[in-house]
Amino acid sequence: MREQPEIMQTSALPTVQDVLRRGAEFLCGVGVESARFDAELLLCHVLGWSREKLWLNQKESLEAARRELFEQVLRRRARREPVAYITGIREFWSLDFLVSPVVLVPRPETELLVEIALRLVESVDVADSKLRILDLGTGSGAIAVSLARESENVEVWATDISPGALEVAEANAVRHGMIERIRFCEGDLFEPVTEFEDAFDMVVSNPPYVKREEMKDLPPDVRDWEPRLALDGGPDGLDFYRRMVEEGHAFLREGGSMLLEIAADMGNEVSELFGKVGRYSQVDIYQDYAGRNRVAVAHKRS
Ligand SMILES: C[S@@+](CC[C@H](N)C(=O)[O-])C[C@H]1O[C@@H](n2cnc3c(N)ncnc32)[C@H](O)[C@@H]1O
Repeated sequence: MREQPEIMQTSALPTVQDVLRRGAEFLCGVGVESARFDAELLLCHVLGWSREKLWLNQKESLEAARRELFEQVLRRRARREPVAYITGIREFWSLDFLVSPVVLVPRPETELLVEIALRLVESVDVADSKLRILDLGTGSGAIAVSLARESENVEVWATDISPGALEVAEANAVRHGMIERIRFCEGDLFEPVTEFEDAFDMVVSNPPYVKREEMKDLPPDVRDWEPRLALDGGPDGLDFYRRMVEEGHAFLREGGSMLLEIAADMGNEVSELFGKVGRYSQVDIYQDYAGRNRVAVAHKRS
């Protein structure tokens, strides 16, 4: 790995364009895949600029103090720290979410789960009452906050076993004006909502689903930085699905839906889990825009 990016080694006052190019080259040289994009995000972060402003001000020169700050964040990225942990922000569902190393960085794939949940919300006639949604393992609150923001007809309960994650999720609910619409509860899966039998119209979750022996093969950005608690799905990756499918029907009203994000190779296994419990209608597996299985949906039957 080249230790010294060339950004600081210049006598002339470099422009945004120069600094960006050298930053991208540095990240590329140490093997960061999305080098150019990451360099842009990091420079925007250091300058407090939007990407549009970065593009419109390519010829502006950058003084040493800012170049040094940029170099510091480039070095963090070279150690594979995710950009979102460096900037403290990640966009999800067109909203800016606060993130820190206690939460999984919300992924664009998870937006499909939000999209399907909203379609279901729209298809249900709620009359005077609101739809109750339970988000298990809320992490940064990305799913819970997006659902609440998007539909006035929902009340959301969001649980997580990690107190640190819940703090971040609550901060995001405040940030997006949703703190009155979401109840945050600390505990193991359904444990914080045991008094809500037959109460929820929808249970949604993006649970930890990496197979334990595959944890070591994850990209270093994920393996070395994101919380193990958010990733490890047990020996076959299905620990959380087993529990959610077996325990979850008790908390759903009749006809209520369970929506679970799944790994691409888990469609059959998760469908079988629903089938084995025998309390759900047929399972639908939805694919993401890359054509990979991504979300399993089943409805509680009588
Ligand atoms: C894959 S992350 C998903 C985070 C967020 N929902 C998202 O989609 O970005 C899984 C979350 O489940 C939480 N978790 C792990 N074990 C749990 C348990 N037994 N009960 C409740 N939450 C748990 C983790 O702390 C983590 O926040």
